[in-house]
Amino acid sequence: MTQNPSQTQSYHLGVVRQFTIMTIVWGIVGMTVGVFIAAQMAWPALNFDLSFLTFSRLRPLHTNAVVFAFGGCALFATSYYVVQRTCHAPLFAPKLAAFTFWGWQLVIVLAAITLPLGFTQSKEYAELIWPIDILIAIVWVCYGVVFFGTLVKRTVSHIYVANWFYAAFIITVAVLHIVNNLAIPTSLTHSYPVFSGATDAMTQWWYGHNAVGFFLTAAFLGMMYYFVPKQAGRPVYSYRLSVVHFWALISIYMWAGPHHLQYTALPDWAQSLGMVFSLVLLAPSWGGMINGIMTLSGAWDKLRSDPILKFLIVSLSFYGIATFEGPMMSIKTVNALSHYTDWTVGHVHGGALGWVAFMTIGSVYVLIPTLFNKKQMYSESLINTHFWVSTIGVVLYIAAMWIAGVMQGLMWRAIEDDGTLTYTFIESIKATYPYYVVRVGGGLLFLIGMFIMAYNVFKTIYSGEEAEAEESISSESAVGAAS
Ligand code: HEM
Ligand code: HEM
Repeated sequence: MTQNPSQTQSYHLGVVRQFTIMTIVWGIVGMTVGVFIAAQMAWPALNFDLSFLTFSRLRPLHTNAVVFAFGGCALFATSYYVVQRTCHAPLFAPKLAAFTFWGWQLVIVLAAITLPLGFTQSKEYAELIWPIDILIAIVWVCYGVVFFGTLVKRTVSHIYVANWFYAAFIITVAVLHIVNNLAIPTSLTHSYPVFSGATDAMTQWWYGHNAVGFFLTAAFLGMMYYFVPKQAGRPVYSYRLSVVHFWALISIYMWAGPHHLQYTALPDWAQSLGMVFSLVLLAPSWGGMINGIMTLSGAWDKLRSDPILKFLIVSLSFYGIATFEGPMMSIKTVNALSHYTDWTVGHVHGGALGWVAFMTIGSVYVLIPTLFNKKQMYSESLINTHFWVSTIGVVLYIAAMWIAGVMQGLMWRAIEDDGTLTYTFIESIKATYPYYVVRVGGGLLFLIGMFIMAYNVFKTIYSGEEAEAEESISSESAVGAAS
């Protein structure tokens, strides 16, 4: 608990500290698995003929670890922090908040055990078996109670826009998770989904797409709306735009899921609807990106000297890239080329590494000194090194996947005059090999960056200079001015 003398308030920062540290730990674990499976794609013998090391089992371990463990802990940490600071109120039900921490860690540990053992529901991003799904639902409802309880307890009338994004994320993820996981258990580790055929596919990608839309996007926009103004020391560029951004984004995202099912058994009109909504989604996405980047107007010089701000602003640029690329890939004729290729994987990691991980890293660097009562991070030059190492890493990763993806798509569709295929499938795999090696290099660089961060955080906590009491709860003026 930290005293805020100006408000005579006490904030509950213990749970924020726990989630922040675990963000770094799970980031390293999830990305290590990512680098390992990337290496397996270049050198398949790396599965050592052990079932629990096969690509098919480790891939969902990677996605669950990076999205739900790394990204999830970052979202719990920042939402608990932001909601207290912007509502000028301590957490509602702090014991329940502590339960969400331990409950979420248990979910992650259970995932790390069951996935390599091959227990899965076979739905992407919803692989976990039903008993774990029930635990997730319980933890999530408690999360909602803590978050919304704190909003209700607020001592200021206004609800800052970051909280709107977090709130939409919490409600939507609950609905998505419960509906998509409706199943009839046949044993402790197996169940049948209640949906079947095309309905099952549609429900799954309504879930999958909105997991991207609300878990990996709306919630991180909440993070952006707090930490970008805070680090820039300026109010958000346009508060009105942020409100339009919010309503437009959440109402359009819901309808774009069918772009994951182009040219499938889904009715044609539904595919076209998904495409149109995805194209429209470009507008609010870029509105948000511009709002974030323009928050720096009048203070652009800070970008030269502040490596944390570099993380946050480059993150927004990657958000812009991913949300331009996504609508293009939704166009049916483009999707005919990109689907099944590594272009999709390049798009994913432009968003996942460039946007999600960069925003998380920047926010963690802002949070750590405040949470541990230190003046600043131990080493600014290490943050700078981290920035450059991970920027080169992400660029290598996505450029390799873009080239590989377009090449694969073109090779698969090339035909001779007599209608036979120009290339065999194995020829396209051979041609992809160098790009898979480049991806391993890019991923490794990104992972090295995470270790640099862990070292810097460790040194800050154990040997950083103590802050004056007032500095550690430095005022919310930048954000407050916006609200
Ligand atoms: C060191 C960093 C990382 C490396 C080396 C890496 C590597 C990989 C690899 C090799 C795959 C499998 C691709 C395939 O099946 O062809 C993959 C999939 C995926 N990764 Fe990562 N990853 C990293 C970081 C992340 C992060 C931070 C996130 C999310 C925040 C993420 C989210 C995903 C997702 C969602 C998929 C599934 C993609 C799809 O289905 O198209 N990854 N990753
Ligand atoms: C306007 C915003 C966006 C649109 C319209 C969009 C559209 C798309 C499209 C068309 C695909 C390929 C579907 C396929 O062929 O299977 C895709 C895949 C994906 N996108 Fe996006 N995207 C957007 C933004 C983002 C962002 C910001 C992220 C990440 C953090 C992201 C993460 C993903 C993931 C994880 C997949 C892979 C899903 C899978 O097959 O497993 N997208 N997106």
